Amino acid sequence: MACTPAPPRRLLAALLLAAAIACAQACIWKFGTAPDSLAKHPGGTHWDHGFNGDDWAGVDASNKSWVCLTGKRQSPINIPFAAVQGGNSTTGNSTVAPEHQTRWNYPPLVSNGSNVEVINTGHTIQVEWLYPYRADVKIAVPANITPSTPVTAVLGLSPGSPAALVNATPAQFHFHAMSEHLVDGKYYPLEMHIVHKITNGLPACAAGCFSVTGILFELHNGDDNPLLEAIWAAMPERAGEINYLPAGAEIRLGELLPKTRDYVAYEGSLTTPPCTEGLLWHVFTQVQPISERQWNAYRRAVGLKDCTLMGDEPAAAADDDSTAAAAPNATTPAAATAAAAAAALAPPAAKAAAAAPAAAAANGGAAQPAALATLAAVAKDKRRLHRRHLLAPVAAAAPVAAAKEDDVEEGEEGQADPNEYTCKVVGYGQNYRNFQPINGRTVKLATAA
Ligand SMILES: *[C@@H]1O[C@H](CO)[C@@H](O)[C@H](O)[C@H]1NC(C)=O
Ligand SMILES: *[C@@H]1O[C@H](CO)[C@@H](O)[C@H](O)[C@H]1NC(C)=O
Ligand SMILES: *[C@@H]1O[C@H](CO)[C@@H](O)[C@H](O)[C@H]1NC(C)=O
Ligand SMILES: *[C@@H]1O[C@H](CO)[C@@H](O)[C@H](O)[C@H]1NC(C)=O
Ligand SMILES: *[C@@H]1O[C@H](CO)[C@@H](O)[C@H](O)[C@H]1NC(C)=O
Repeated sequence: MACTPAPPRRLLAALLLAAAIACAQACIWKFGTAPDSLAKHPGGTHWDHGFNGDDWAGVDASNKSWVCLTGKRQSPINIPFAAVQGGNSTTGNSTVAPEHQTRWNYPPLVSNGSNVEVINTGHTIQVEWLYPYRADVKIAVPANITPSTPVTAVLGLSPGSPAALVNATPAQFHFHAMSEHLVDGKYYPLEMHIVHKITNGLPACAAGCFSVTGILFELHNGDDNPLLEAIWAAMPERAGEINYLPAGAEIRLGELLPKTRDYVAYEGSLTTPPCTEGLLWHVFTQVQPISERQWNAYRRAVGLKDCTLMGDEPAAAADDDSTAAAAPNATTPAAATAAAAAAALAPPAAKAAAAAPAAAAANGGAAQPAALATLAAVAKDKRRLHRRHLLAPVAAAAPVAAAKEDDVEEGEEGQADPNEYTCKVVGYGQNYRNFQPINGRTVKLATAA
């Protein structure tokens, strides 16, 4: 991929534009960097998954340095065999007492046609909801907390310690391919992260703390996982696009969690910039199935693209994918029509350059106020993305209504219009970070009673 544009910093816009022109015919663009990307960068250094996190040096929107390369309590980790076995008294890693185990109860997320979104952020495929979804997730924390007790104090609880429960409210969930966490050296094809907010119960979390729950998937050479179907059918292939889940479609989040709720807990970080630390992680050790077709569809949505300026190629090329909806190598119907819909979208828009959005939202969630500010910036930013209503759950080639842009950004001089590009997914992509050193952290196993 010699002509894959190297992104860094403020020259990004110029670089992308130059690269777009230089590579008009045969360049391969990484996920989130393609010139058709409508996703906005909320500020700070641009980044991507090209080096699986090994090149993540930069600053956030407030010019604060990321801790990805310097932090000592980073995620993901390779969950050690000893931890999966419950550790032993020598290592100090041990099991979570039954009375201190986190409990998850999620009712289905049900869409009314405009309140559950499937977003291609440019870094991940993320699901968010716009209604007060009520889930019941409880985390045991030490009973005698002080204003500075962090959420990770959970890991210091020993059997019999008095504890109190705090509520964790799910805020969004998203995916990574390959998995970010390894279990005893083993990668999985996909990992799902449910990001929870903790806003009360712990004074240290008054400004908001996050706790992330990870679910690993393994390939299953059979039917699609029906629990992923609704999400997959709405997955946009173009960065910066949002599809509403069709009215009546539901995501049975509770069933996406493994039946056996054994999990490993440890103190970690966001897995993308700014890699903020102090997060409480839960990773289930039981896995869920995903079909090869679904896995490939996800990797296509975060795939490598070949883009051309319109006019350089017949516009019909944009429709190529829509005929692929019925083909075995096709992505989901929604994704397949994305290119066609994109071509139909009203023109002006975004800075082609500001390709990547949302660090924190695109990722594991954040523990600290600074990360919250990033989330707020992202939420604001999101309003400028393109929303589309899907008319029916499996409306293969159904017309996709191009919603009007909420907010049209003025084009900046010298920057290309992303809608002038026709992009085709030409290869599978990935969006995981390499695992990080454990550095003596406690990794605890909870075995469901
Ligand atoms: C960001 O911080 C660096 C050093 O800490 C400083 O040199 C630079 O001017 C700052 N940039 C902005 C935009 O504030
Ligand atoms: C406990 O774990 C340590 C470190 O992995 C190992 O050296 C030791 O042999 C283990 N002890 C027992 C009793 O399993
Ligand atoms: C769907 O839910 C959203 C958020 O609760 C609400 O604003 C909207 O009016 C609802 N739409 C319909 C068609 O019920
Ligand atoms: C998808 O399959 C069709 C027919 O089987 C083939 O013509 C096309 O080249 C394939 N596309 C990709 C991207 O593999
Ligand atoms: C827990 O186990 C891991 C892996 O065996 C080890 O690196 C870490 O030092 C242990 N933690 C403690 C507190 O002993």
